[in-house]
Amino acid sequence: MSDLLELQDIHLNYKTESTAVEVIRGVSLKINSNESVAIVGKSGSGKTSLIMLIAGLERPNSGKIIFEGEDISQYSEDRLADIRKRKIGIVFQSFYLIPNYTALENVSLVLEINKVPDAKKKSMELLEQFGLKDRINHFPSQLSGGEQQRVAIARSIVLNPKLILADEPSGNLDSENSKLIMSLLFKYCKQNGSSLVLVTHDQMLAKECDRIIEIKDGKII
Ligand SMILES: Nc1ncnc2c1ncn2[C@@H]1O[C@H](COP(=O)(O)OP(=O)(O)OP(=O)(O)O)[C@@H](O)[C@H]1O
Ligand SMILES: [Mg+2]
Repeated sequence: MSDLLELQDIHLNYKTESTAVEVIRGVSLKINSNESVAIVGKSGSGKTSLIMLIAGLERPNSGKIIFEGEDISQYSEDRLADIRKRKIGIVFQSFYLIPNYTALENVSLVLEINKVPDAKKKSMELLEQFGLKDRINHFPSQLSGGEQQRVAIARSIVLNPKLILADEPSGNLDSENSKLIMSLLFKYCKQNGSSLVLVTHDQMLAKECDRIIEIKDGKII
């Protein structure tokens, strides 16, 4: 296994009007290709902040982020957005689907923006694998929470990202739907050789990952 991503002594402060709070306090870690890593820790410990840093949606105050051998910590917004688009799939707890687009359109839009041929056909196949064959023309408001999350996951992985970042992807779902969604994600990562960084409060789920990292007060313990 080779390194896909490395964080070197990362610090992140959030500034509010009166104070600056250091929420990530010297985190170093490596994620290999094909590896799944769970991130666990109490509420407020810095898990989402870590995901935002890895995704390039937050910039560290100090430290390096090496992605595929390149230090991306000082990349411009545009270059970061480009890497994110092509190589990183992000799944959040809330689905952020486009309300006036159907399930199929929500997924195929990503391919169309990136000028991938056969966007509709490819999206349809993926949604079918996710058990949504009969739902492709439904709008998000016409789908259950579990179905919406499956559409959201399909959308984040349709470009075959090297790295999938999932922040409590099943947090809003019942245990049956949660199991279904997680098994789809794990299966997809195995099939495509993608790495998975999964934030979860669920110990059982964390144990299904190759490695567990625990965060406390912005540090790995
Ligand atoms: N934009 C922000 N501005 C200021 N402080 C913030 C901001 N975002 C998060 N924080 C603070 O940073 C700390 C870490 O937040 P973070 O969202 O990373 O925690 P978390 O581990 O994901 O928690 P949870 O399990 O509740 O999702 C918290 O104390 C939070 O209040
Ligand atoms: Mg969080």
